[in-house]
Amino acid sequence: MTSKIRRFTHRAAFAAMAMSVLGLSACHHADAPTKIGFLVKMPEQAWFINEEKAATELGKKEGFSVVSIGTPDGEKVLAAIDNLGAQGAQGFVICPPDVRLGPAIRARAKQYDMKFVTVDDRLVDGSGKPLDGVPHLGMSSFKIGNQVGQAIADEMKKRGWKPEEVGALRITDDQLPTAKQRTDGATETLLASGFKKENIFDAPQRTTDDEGGFNAASPVLAQHPDIKKWVIYALNEETVLGAVRATEQLHIPAEDVVGVGINGAGEAFAEFQKKEATGFYGTIAVSSTHHGRDSAQNLVDWIRTGKEPPADTQTAGALMTRDNWQKVRADLGI
Ligand code: GLA
Repeated sequence: MTSKIRRFTHRAAFAAMAMSVLGLSACHHADAPTKIGFLVKMPEQAWFINEEKAATELGKKEGFSVVSIGTPDGEKVLAAIDNLGAQGAQGFVICPPDVRLGPAIRARAKQYDMKFVTVDDRLVDGSGKPLDGVPHLGMSSFKIGNQVGQAIADEMKKRGWKPEEVGALRITDDQLPTAKQRTDGATETLLASGFKKENIFDAPQRTTDDEGGFNAASPVLAQHPDIKKWVIYALNEETVLGAVRATEQLHIPAEDVVGVGINGAGEAFAEFQKKEATGFYGTIAVSSTHHGRDSAQNLVDWIRTGKEPPADTQTAGALMTRDNWQKVRADLGI
C-alpha cells in the first residue's frame, strides 16, 4: 500500500467514524422523548394555571411532557432554564416576569441548545424592540383595549351617566408593552365616545395582580372624593378586581362603578357567580386554553420538524358579563 492510499484509507475511515457519531447523535435527538418547560411569571394566577393545564393536556395527546415552573423574577428564570437543561428538555414556552430579560434568557437557552417561544408578554432587546428570532403568541392588545373602552362607553350610556360626572381609573404598567397597548386602546375608544380627557387618572401598578390593582387604585380614589361615579380599566381583570375592592372599601356603591377587565379566567367567573352584581361589570375574554395549547404546539413542532413558528400570532377576545359568561366561556373553550 502506498503511503498515499494509506492516507486516503485513514481519512475515509475517520470520515465514516465521524459520520456515524454524528448520525448517532442526530438519531438520538430525534428518538429522545420530547420534553418542554412552561415558565410563567405568576403561577398562582388563573390565566396561567389554565395555560399550563392546556399545554400539559396537549402533551398527553401528542406524546411530550411539560415541566411547569413558576418564575416570578429573573434569577428564577435562569435557574429554571438550568434545571430544564439538566433534565434534557429541548425547549420552553415562557411568559417572563420582566420583558427586558430578553438577551439574558436567549443567552442561557443557547448554552443548552434549547429553542424557546414567548406567550402573552413579548421579550424585548436592549433597545426595547421585540427580541429577534423568538416566536411570540399573544393578545391583539390594542384591539382588545378598544373593546374594553367600547364596553365601558356602552354601559355608561345605558346607565345614563354624563361624561362630566365620571372619573376613569386607568391602572397602568407602562414598562410592559402589552399592558400599555391594552390601556391605550381603551383610552382611545373612551375619548372617541366623548369621555373627558381631564377625568382620566393614571394609577401606576407595581404588580399585575389583584394586590397591584388595589394598591394602585386606593390613593387615587382617595384623592378625588368629589367624583361619585367611576369607570376602571387595566391590563387584566385581576387588576380591575383589585381596584373594585378598593372602591368597596371606600363605600362607593356597586351601581356607581363600571370595571371592565381582560382575560376571562377563574376570578372573573367567581365574581359573576356572586349573588349581587359588583362594580366588576365585565371582561374581554380571550382563550387561555388556546394560548397554552398553541404556544406549546408551535414549540414542539419546531423541535420535532425544524419548522419555525410564525414570528407574531395575535389572538382576539369577546365581551363577557354576568349575563353571558358561561356561553362565552364555552365558545372560547376555556
Ligand atoms: C399579561 C397579564 C396576564 C394576562 C396575559 C394575557 O401577562 O399579566 O394577566 O392578561 O397578559 O396575554
